[in-house]
Amino acid sequence: MKFDTPAGTNPIDRMQVVGKPTDRIDGKYKTTGTAPYAYEQNRAAPNAAYGYVVGAGIAKGRIAGIDLSAAKAAPGVLAIVTADNAGKLTKGNFNTANLLGGPAIEHYHQAVAVVVAETFEQARAAAALVRIDYVRAKGRFDLAAELDHAPLKGDDSGEGSKAPPVDRVGDFEKAFAAAPVTLDARYTTPDQSHAMMEPHASIAAWQGDELTIWTSNQMINWGKGDVARTLGIPKEKVRLISPYVGGGFGGKLFVRSDAIMAALGARAAGRPVKVALQRPLIANNTTHRPATIQRIRIGCQKDGRITAIAHESGSGDLPGGGPETAVSQTKLLYAGANRLTAMRLAVLDLPEGNAMRAPGEAPGLMALEIAMDEMAEKLGMDPVEFRIVNDTQVDPAKPERKFSQRDLVGCLRQGADRFGWSRRNPKPGTTRDGQWLVGMGVAAGFRNNMTMKSAARVGIDRKGVVTVATDMTDIGTGSYTIIAQTAAEMLGVPLDKVVVLLGDSSFPVSSGSGGQWGGNSSTAGVYAACAKLRETIAQKLGFNSADVTFEGGKVRAGNRSVSLAEAAGDAGLSAEEMLEYGDLAKKYQQSTFAGHFVEVGVDAWTGEVRVRRMLAVCAAGRILNPLTARSQVIGAMTMGVGAALMEELAVDKRFGFFVNHDLAGYEVPVHADIPHQEVVFLEEADPMSSPMKAKGVGELGLCGVGAAIANAIYNATGVRVRDYPITLDKHLEKLPHVA
Ligand code: MOS
Repeated sequence: MKFDTPAGTNPIDRMQVVGKPTDRIDGKYKTTGTAPYAYEQNRAAPNAAYGYVVGAGIAKGRIAGIDLSAAKAAPGVLAIVTADNAGKLTKGNFNTANLLGGPAIEHYHQAVAVVVAETFEQARAAAALVRIDYVRAKGRFDLAAELDHAPLKGDDSGEGSKAPPVDRVGDFEKAFAAAPVTLDARYTTPDQSHAMMEPHASIAAWQGDELTIWTSNQMINWGKGDVARTLGIPKEKVRLISPYVGGGFGGKLFVRSDAIMAALGARAAGRPVKVALQRPLIANNTTHRPATIQRIRIGCQKDGRITAIAHESGSGDLPGGGPETAVSQTKLLYAGANRLTAMRLAVLDLPEGNAMRAPGEAPGLMALEIAMDEMAEKLGMDPVEFRIVNDTQVDPAKPERKFSQRDLVGCLRQGADRFGWSRRNPKPGTTRDGQWLVGMGVAAGFRNNMTMKSAARVGIDRKGVVTVATDMTDIGTGSYTIIAQTAAEMLGVPLDKVVVLLGDSSFPVSSGSGGQWGGNSSTAGVYAACAKLRETIAQKLGFNSADVTFEGGKVRAGNRSVSLAEAAGDAGLSAEEMLEYGDLAKKYQQSTFAGHFVEVGVDAWTGEVRVRRMLAVCAAGRILNPLTARSQVIGAMTMGVGAALMEELAVDKRFGFFVNHDLAGYEVPVHADIPHQEVVFLEEADPMSSPMKAKGVGELGLCGVGAAIANAIYNATGVRVRDYPITLDKHLEKLPHVA
């Protein structure tokens, strides 16, 4: 099914099941411990041996020699795989560095060996006996120093965030020089780690030349392709199974070393092998969000209209990697005739940078939305009003290109109302509540809406039970539930008559989960398969498909009515279909919008920041399940608290690695850090996005939050911090005197 004209009225518009707050259908399995995650697939892959990954002890250089003799002789050891005996491996299309290093080492903790043993403890003990001699080479680890001579580089995050090396509209320099009110400021965001709860984990089993990997992965079909490519085997010989994923955040978009080491270990040991990347290995072995250094210049008329806006960002990555596309949203968020964006990419020998939690917009808005706050203050304007004055309903670079829907103004106005924004004191550092300096902050949220083709198979059996199968993943987002809701709505059956099977590469290829496209795209694929099944049923019954209704477990046309069970018959009926997209996304800019509001308290004596209240008002198309969508948004807001206040991989610039590579040193928010969070969805249905009229919403909940917190802190203290995370040492000395 091709989606190339705006959606008309369709069965989803009934909203009898879709759009209703619905508990997760997989919730009972997760809360009872009966949902098997990758490392727990013992029933599917019995008798697995344990693999323990050895990570490189240098950032750049080569292995001069490996001595495996002691490790091989250790109790329980079954096999040890290194680059010497792994056979020929090819780098995956989605990897920047090889997943098995040696003799060349590309980054710290790059896997250089997997030790397979009967038990985990034996594998770990033997791994400690692997002797490796390295020759260290000089590496580049200092982003600021390397950006001095880094070239301009455009790119696409792969998640809907993109910008060319340089993008100019009008004459920025001239307009900026002529503007009566200007801002020119520098902002930094640090390297960050996904820190998902479930580590990267896989069990691999070979049957002859066929390989099955139970793994934790967001994108089954990408992963299947890259496993085949890396190992040099045909794609048809690879099966990936990933029904439950304990968080990915972009770190599991791609196959990582756990899957490849498990496959190599299993081949060498001649039996299934399970590998969970050890937590202290994850930060340096896998991908991370790259640090950025950003410069923003804004020129305004005295009435607050932007006449010139420039956003430049620099980041680094291994050779062949890409930039953090932090300037992307600045092309679209605000009006202004003269514009400039540019990105520079430095070559660094730190671990591989890649997508994490709204790549591009999340760190880009952390800078842009502080700059907007600073500019509003220079103008003496309210920061909500300043944003509203500069709203645009068209792509500022191509005014003939409208947004499919855009209600940023509604988000900001309703948010200000609900949050009690009028009570904010615009004079910073002057509101007290006992020991607390109190402040409020606002930021716009913006994230593009991507659509991805997606297929599904839907069947009905003789009992009238509907089964949906697609290789879509549920990474904690609620995919199972919204897919069941979609099939129930389309076929007119109650939710408990729908079985959803996900995360298996033997099922039709879906959109997968990434870039907040999964909800809309995967359900659109299910919509297409259901539409085809409705046709099939109507034809079988001799009904005119134009006036058929599916309701209450029955199919009706005129005064004829047949139960679905009867229609399916003993053999059952099934249909498979893919929804593909035409060029509506080119004709219309599809984006999602939010107003983020935050109140903080800053301890006047210690500088400690506590978030007191948070509100997100989101405009993101039809909300398929307000309960799971809300969970997505409050989770994302929590990530925003992490980004604003805590999360930072500390770079060792001498040896080139992330020092705080475990959950003791890499801090993320816990329940005690998070206050009441309120989420409001504006009523929308976007006919340009898909037959579901839904859009992405998960990552929108993060985009802008960091800056809203930063702006609230400034309002509380009067001290502007432009370097994230905003830890108390960055403002303590400058806080108002207390004694
Ligand atoms: Mo992407 S960072 O997997 O949504």
